[in-house]
Amino acid sequence: MDAAAINEILAKFPEVKGNLIGILHEVQNYFHYLPEEELRYVAKKTGVPITQIYSIVNFYNRFSLKPKGKNEVCVCLGTACHVKGAEKVMNEMQRVLAIKAGETTDDMNFSLEEVRCIGACSLAPAVVVNEDTHGKVTPRQVGQLLAKYKV
Ligand code: FES
Repeated sequence: MDAAAINEILAKFPEVKGNLIGILHEVQNYFHYLPEEELRYVAKKTGVPITQIYSIVNFYNRFSLKPKGKNEVCVCLGTACHVKGAEKVMNEMQRVLAIKAGETTDDMNFSLEEVRCIGACSLAPAVVVNEDTHGKVTPRQVGQLLAKYKV
């Protein structure tokens, strides 16, 4: 359990009230998911019941209780992207990464998710990697795109 990392995160939020989601975001950014032991430590240090923390975690699908890869790849399969061939982009992502949507590569480099409309329909088909939006992605570009993020 990495208490030092949690203490550092909590130090950024002197007021817990109204900041719990922000705290959980920081914990997830640090670990790439929300480890149970660390969540229990957050509960202990903040005085927020662990049940309340879990209800927040379960409500927002941005939060994950399962380990995620260092890079989160989200392929949009919303209507506009679907029409522009997003399915083929997703198939190529799955082929190159050798995982299915919802899974993480064994080397923990990538997690692959499907999402529905990220509000970038004019860029369809769109892919988001971490904070970067990539537009008009073709299956042929997938390998090159992923290579930029591989560590
Ligand atoms: S449908 Fe993909 S960005 Fe809107």
